[in-house]
Amino acid sequence: MKTDPRLLTPEEAAFLVRRRVARLATADASGEPHAIPVCFSYTPGAIYIALDEKPKDVPPTRLKRVRNIVENPNVALIADHYSENWDLLAYVMVRGRAELVEPNTQEHATAVRLLRGKYHQYEAMRIEENPVIAIRPRRVASWGALDGGASSSVLEPIRGRRSVRRYLDKPVPDEMVDAILEAARWAPSPHGRQPWRFAVVTGEEAKHRLADAMGEEWRANLEMDGQDAEVVEKRLQGSRRRLLDAPVLILLCLYLGDLDEYPDAERQRNETTMAVQSLGAAAQNALLAAYDLGLDSSWMCAPLFSPEKAVEALDLDPALVPHALLTIGYAEGDPPKRRSRRPLDELVGYRD
Ligand SMILES: Cc1cc2nc3c(=O)[nH]c(=O)nc-3n(C[C@H](O)[C@H](O)[C@H](O)COP(=O)(O)O)c2cc1C
Repeated sequence: MKTDPRLLTPEEAAFLVRRRVARLATADASGEPHAIPVCFSYTPGAIYIALDEKPKDVPPTRLKRVRNIVENPNVALIADHYSENWDLLAYVMVRGRAELVEPNTQEHATAVRLLRGKYHQYEAMRIEENPVIAIRPRRVASWGALDGGASSSVLEPIRGRRSVRRYLDKPVPDEMVDAILEAARWAPSPHGRQPWRFAVVTGEEAKHRLADAMGEEWRANLEMDGQDAEVVEKRLQGSRRRLLDAPVLILLCLYLGDLDEYPDAERQRNETTMAVQSLGAAAQNALLAAYDLGLDSSWMCAPLFSPEKAVEALDLDPALVPHALLTIGYAEGDPPKRRSRRPLDELVGYRD
C-alpha cells in the first residue's frame, strides 16, 4: 500500500489508462456500501468521473453515489482485466477521497476535456453542465499481469481473420456494417486528415454495374497481356462471382482533397503515399472488426485497376479514387487455402 497520491507505478498507471470501465465503491454515513460501473479518466493526482445526462430517475446531484460522497468522501475505484487465461488476470484498486468539482472552474474544464478525449460518446452529451466527481488517490493496490492482458483480445482477430472467397446467402445486419465502418474511420491517417471515403454496396443492381465495369477493364488488360481466351473467361467469371455473391461490398476510396500541398513533387508524392498507407490501415481495421463481429471478409484489388469505371458505375464523386474492395459476409466454410506466414527471422533484422 502506498500513501503518496501520485504514486501509482508506471505499470499501474498504464493499466488504469487502458481500461474503459471501472467500478466505483462509495458508502453512506452509516457505512452502507454502494458500487457501480463507471467510465473514468485518470491523470496523475486525480481520477475523474462525469455525471452525464443519460436518462436517470434523479438529477445528477441526487444520485446515490453523489449523496454518498457528500456524506462520506472515502471511496474506492477498481479496474480489472478478466481472461479465461488466468495468467492474464489483473486489477488496480485506488482508494482515496472524492469531491465534486463544479462547472466553470479550470479543473472542471480539464476533466471534461480528458473524459471527452477518452470517450467520444461524451462529445454529444452536456457533461460540462454537471459537476464532475474527482477522486484524489491516497492508496493504491494492484495485482496480477498488469501489462499482459490488454493485447490478448486484439491478437485473436488478427490471427483468426482470413480471406474468404465464398459466402453463405445470409444477409449482414446494417448495424454490423456500421460497426465495421466505425472501426475503419478510427485508423491512423496523415495529419489526422482521414483521406478516405467508403461506398457501401448491397443492392443487386449496383453490384452488377460495378462487376460489369471492372470486368470490362480487366478483360482488356488480360487480353493485352496475351492470355489464353479460356483462362481469361475463367478468371473473369471467378472474380465476378465473388463480387456478386458477397452480401456486402465496401469500396475504399482515396480522397486527397484535404492533404497538405507542397511546392515540390517529391513531398507531394510522399503525402499521397501516406494517404494510401492509411487507407490500408482503415481496410485492416474493417477486416478485423468484421471478424470480431463473427463475419468474414476478403480484400479485392480490382478497383485499383479501373478507378474511373468504378466511380462511374456507382455514381460517386469524381474526386474519389477507388483503391480496394472489401467483400463481407458469412463464410460458406473454412477457406481451402492454407494460411502460412514467413518466420519472423526472415522478416526482421535486429540491431542492438
Ligand atoms: C492490397 C491487397 C490486395 C489484394 N487483392 C486480392 C484480390 O484481388 N483477390 C484476392 O483473391 N485476394 C486479394 N488479396 C488477399 C490476399 O490474397 C490474402 O490476404 C493473402 O493471400 C493472405 O491470406 P489471408 O488473408 O487469408 O491471410 C489482397 C490483399 C491485399 C493486402
